[in-house]
Amino acid sequence: MQIQIFQDKESLHRAVAQMFVDAVKAKPSIVLGLATGSSPLETYENMIKDHQENGTDYSEVVTFNLDEYIGLDGSHSQSYRHFMNTSLFNGLNIPLGQTNVPSGTGDVDKTCEDYEAKIANTGGIDLQLLGIGTNGHIGFNEPGTPFDTRTHVTELTKETIDGNARFFESAESVPKKAVTMGIQTIMDAKKIVLIAYGSKKAAAIRDMVNGPITESMPASILQDHSDTTLFLDEEAAALLKPE
Ligand code: F6R
Repeated sequence: MQIQIFQDKESLHRAVAQMFVDAVKAKPSIVLGLATGSSPLETYENMIKDHQENGTDYSEVVTFNLDEYIGLDGSHSQSYRHFMNTSLFNGLNIPLGQTNVPSGTGDVDKTCEDYEAKIANTGGIDLQLLGIGTNGHIGFNEPGTPFDTRTHVTELTKETIDGNARFFESAESVPKKAVTMGIQTIMDAKKIVLIAYGSKKAAAIRDMVNGPITESMPASILQDHSDTTLFLDEEAAALLKPE
């Protein structure tokens, strides 16, 4: 794992956005894995700004998002489909038909199977963006998820529900289940970038980097990935063992 530490969040987001822009320019038909939540938000803003100013072309790019809440239709304001359309896709020239977010409604088992097949058909994810939960989850792969999982339905932990309650009217209205790419799906990405900032993420970052590889800390499996870079601010990096 490579680690880059930034003095402030703004330069971190600029660096991640630049990496994505460079990757799209190098391979216009790139397959991107994308995340929702607060971690990538300003990275996406920087990508849109670059597109407006420099015209970076997304017309051939294909994307796959990590996850979606079960029970929320794509038009729901808290669905991850809605988040992606409004936070990124609508600001780029990417045809929405080339953007994939698992459906949280309908036959979810079929959704999981189809999602894996669709990823495989593209030749696999070239560059995957991740955030990390305070409990070490990646995607919605909560602690205890087997490392060999592919896209599946998962029950969200209380910690995750409470963490995401800020986006809903109350913790009770947060869906209790989600569809998520599995840990093996994520590990199959050729290159992985994980963003974390703020002191709330410091313990998870310490455990994923310096701790043992264990299913109780899902992100620790990234120690075994051949091309993963962590983009951290100083607060998120504060508990790491010095080199
Ligand atoms: C989002 C996702 C989650 C988040 C994680 C961190 O698609 O899969 O793993 O990346 O919960 O969330 P934030 O960025 O809101 O702190």
